[in-house]
Amino acid sequence: MKAVVPAGLGKVEEADVDEVEPAAGELTIEVATFSINRGETFQLDNPPSDWRPGKDVAGRVVRAAPDATGPAVGSRVVAHLPHSGWAERVVARTDQVAVLPDAVSLEQAAALPLAGLTALRMLRVAGSVIGRRILLTGASGGVGHYFTELAAASGASVTAVVSSPARGERLLELGAETIVYDVADARGPFDLALESVGGESLPIALSKVGPGGKLIWFGEVSRQPARLDFFDLFAGPEGASIQHFHYTSSAADGPDLATLVRLVETGRLHPELGRIDDWSATAEVLEDLRDRRIRGNAVLTLGKEQQ
Ligand SMILES: NC(=O)c1ccc[n+]([C@@H]2O[C@H](COP(=O)([O-])OP(=O)(O)OC[C@H]3O[C@@H](n4cnc5c(N)ncnc54)[C@H](OP(=O)(O)O)[C@@H]3O)[C@@H](O)[C@H]2O)c1
Repeated sequence: MKAVVPAGLGKVEEADVDEVEPAAGELTIEVATFSINRGETFQLDNPPSDWRPGKDVAGRVVRAAPDATGPAVGSRVVAHLPHSGWAERVVARTDQVAVLPDAVSLEQAAALPLAGLTALRMLRVAGSVIGRRILLTGASGGVGHYFTELAAASGASVTAVVSSPARGERLLELGAETIVYDVADARGPFDLALESVGGESLPIALSKVGPGGKLIWFGEVSRQPARLDFFDLFAGPEGASIQHFHYTSSAADGPDLATLVRLVETGRLHPELGRIDDWSATAEVLEDLRDRRIRGNAVLTLGKEQQ
């Protein structure tokens, strides 16, 4: 079968690879769509040997689990995989998939797993956000749109940091209260800051947190480490905590994926498909994502069926 594989220096190419045989508790999916995440661009810079990219896929089950657990052949599903999803067929653990209702397209579904699970689980870590003021940096990407919509619906006042008015429009529609174009212009104090840009953005975001508040540190998209000065915290965020966040869970992803699917089905979560292209354009879409030319999620289609 065909797959997208690492080609060195962060690039990818199409190649023929072996089919993967499902073990007990695993099923085979004919992939119709997959999405590209920022983290995968980082992994491609330094790919482990025998590793192929691809965590988020949607498609149809073509081979049920040998032990008959999970969805039946023909079911439309979304899956979150450890890797190797940018391919014609993938093997997924049955507890890492969710079945799709007709109202959720395969393109929307492919945009859900990594970014959606991250937003959902960060909101859980944040706890009750009703009436809370939240500062969100790097807000115009996949995670940012999902988090803004979920947090606003939960009663939070969200200030989103984006690079331009065009990048902020949809966030306002999804419930953000304020858009700023530079984190330094955000008007605190905030109860919570969510930081994923790194470099100078992190200490500035932290300086906007009120005494005893919290900064959830979930990425470093600029690839620039942050530098913190102990004494700066006396000027505002005294006693604040910084919590490192990673979206992975010891529990299976299936139930949280099903929650995301249900929210989309019922109109309470809107995948932002900033770019949809044929998978032959994967290399080009990767470059556009790296260079901040894509708002929301990037989805690639394999032309297998009507979405
Ligand atoms: N901790 C976890 O478990 C976890 C899970 C998923 C993702 N992440 C991280 O969370 C962050 C957001 O993920 P995502 O999938 O939403 O990424 P994304 O779609 O690429 O969005 C990131 C956004 O950051 C903004 N940005 C600001 N400064 C940037 C810079 N120097 N270089 C590139 N972009 C910059 C860009 O918007 P503008 O151009 O409008 O500023 C971009 O849209 C990433 O750092 C990712 O690695 C962490």
